[in-house]
Amino acid sequence: MTADVNKDRLWNSLMTLAEIGGTAKGGVRRIALSDEDKRARDLFCDWARDAGCDIRVDSIGNIFARRPGRSPDAAPIATGSHIDSQPAGGKFDGAFGVMAGLEVVRALNDAGIETEAPIEIVDWTDEEGARFAAGCIGSGVFSGHRDLDKALALSDSDGVTVAKALEDIGYAGPEPAGSSRFGAYFEAHIEQGPILEAKGLPVGAVLGAQGQRCFVMTVEGVDGHAGTLPMAKRQDSFVGTAKMTVALSELASTYDPPAVITVGHVRVMPNSRNTIPGKTIFTIDSRHPDAATLERMEADMTRICQEIADASGLTLGVEAVTRAEPIVFDENCVEAVREACRKRQIRFMDIHSGAGHDACKVASVAPAGMIFVPCVDGISHNEFEDARPEDLAIGTQVLLDSMLAYAS
Ligand code: GLV
Ligand code: MN
Ligand code: MN
Repeated sequence: MTADVNKDRLWNSLMTLAEIGGTAKGGVRRIALSDEDKRARDLFCDWARDAGCDIRVDSIGNIFARRPGRSPDAAPIATGSHIDSQPAGGKFDGAFGVMAGLEVVRALNDAGIETEAPIEIVDWTDEEGARFAAGCIGSGVFSGHRDLDKALALSDSDGVTVAKALEDIGYAGPEPAGSSRFGAYFEAHIEQGPILEAKGLPVGAVLGAQGQRCFVMTVEGVDGHAGTLPMAKRQDSFVGTAKMTVALSELASTYDPPAVITVGHVRVMPNSRNTIPGKTIFTIDSRHPDAATLERMEADMTRICQEIADASGLTLGVEAVTRAEPIVFDENCVEAVREACRKRQIRFMDIHSGAGHDACKVASVAPAGMIFVPCVDGISHNEFEDARPEDLAIGTQVLLDSMLAYAS
């Protein structure tokens, strides 16, 4: 039993989807639960229905598109990713995984294959974490890593909550989040790094992903007049934040090389040219493959920021928004990906993920694995993110064959 994916159809779907929120530089701005996200969700649902899928939406807005199998009671073999993007993101991060799932269903239809277990494509809500500071919201709630009510109460910088944003776009669904289960889950994604391209390999069988800890830091000083308050008397929250940012960046290089620390989002208040900023809120994203090192990094980061706050007459609030442990994917799922490559004589390597993914959350409630394909120059979270149609098709073929091994 076999089915072949259609490279051009996959590419055309990706390019059509990329028109929603498309930017002048050729990237995508499709912030989670925005109007662009809604239009992309609608299009995905239309395409999935046309391909014979039934659509369900859960209470955190995850979309499940199911292609029925012979055994309606069998747990579905699922795939998916996210169609939200970074504020200045690319066409492939996340979108590829959802469109690859759609191509799997379309190719199975073409080949007239009926699987035993249903096949399910998932679009997970807000993987990127660009809007509500916390990533993997949908897959996090689905897998029990996040509490539903707390996730719904998260708010963006305008005070709009996840619950309100879901209602506004019509994707607050009736299915209780986490009430359905998968027989297995495979996610296709661009690598977002340079390794596969450098080795000239079209596929990576992903072994696992590094852990991640993210924080929202609130630095408070005192607002003041930019013209009248002498420098020595100031309690400038943004100057404190700048010192913390430099210290955190320097701290990162004191651990083993994969350690990374990023200050990516800063809100300065009142954000006025001639007022000394009394309050600044910023995010920290820290990552390492080793849990003990992550723990040490958290302690060091908090201590260093507190020392700077104390020395500058500032107060510091620390809120942990993500504590994700390093992930090891299911050995049988990883082997299914390798075997799918061997059977079609596709060259591959085992690889670790530097980025976080929805599969990392799902891995705790279902056997999970991932398939990486190369992206040009390893560039991602950037409007110039690019990938080759051939590589995307090969990765999707491996996805289809891996899923079929489980579903038939
Ligand atoms: C996902 O984009 C991540 O932050 O790794
Ligand atoms: Mn992604
Ligand atoms: Mn991303």
